[in-house]
Amino acid sequence: MSIHIVTEKSLVAPDVLLPGDPLRAEHIAKTFLTDLVHYNTIRGMNGYTGLWNGHRVSVQGTGMGMPSFSIYAHELIDAYGAKRLIRVGTCGTMSEELNLRDILIAQASDCDSGMNLSRFGLYQFAPTATYVLLEKAVRTAKELNLKAVVGTVFTSDQFYDEKAEEKNALAMKAGALAVEMESAELYTLARLRRIQALTLLTVSDSILTGEHVPPKDRQNTFDAMIELALHTLFF
Ligand code: HPA
Repeated sequence: MSIHIVTEKSLVAPDVLLPGDPLRAEHIAKTFLTDLVHYNTIRGMNGYTGLWNGHRVSVQGTGMGMPSFSIYAHELIDAYGAKRLIRVGTCGTMSEELNLRDILIAQASDCDSGMNLSRFGLYQFAPTATYVLLEKAVRTAKELNLKAVVGTVFTSDQFYDEKAEEKNALAMKAGALAVEMESAELYTLARLRRIQALTLLTVSDSILTGEHVPPKDRQNTFDAMIELALHTLFF
């Protein structure tokens, strides 16, 4: 038991998918898993454990942004013994290489957050995915015939940012392919705790053109990414 996830340790699997939206956690659990246990409802931040092709896996909502994500990731790792975490989210593309509906496998994360500055001071930590998961995801995407691009994301603290133009220009100059709000914390915490982590993102909008994937198409692209995450973990 911990503060924001209140359940028994045995009810959470070592492998966890992490959507930001707790309703996405419910959708993933009810669409892909059997033998479901709804193990967390605190603050409406759903956590489920079930079976996928006989493999035990949990799905835990995290909320948006690094501070909220950090709370759930800390508790999953420290109180419930999670060993492999895959964030499954959305991003805004900043690159012509990455189109709406594509999947981005986040190799590394650039960031504008104060969290690692406060953790490490002048030591500039490089938040990166765990290689074994990254390599497996790339191979699995090819096997499943999914278009997936590997690259760096910009993890931003502010969705509504008065300096968005300036920061996005810097991120693009640095070669980041897309913006989202959680991966830097996932990759940092995973390395500090010596566990495995990966972020998979579907492109829901474009910073370059302002386009969005229409709501009716969103679920299909999102579900293809969940297939990729589950095959990456278990095949
Ligand atoms: N900005 C930040 N996070 C996001 C975006 C965005 O445009 N799209 C999806 N997640």
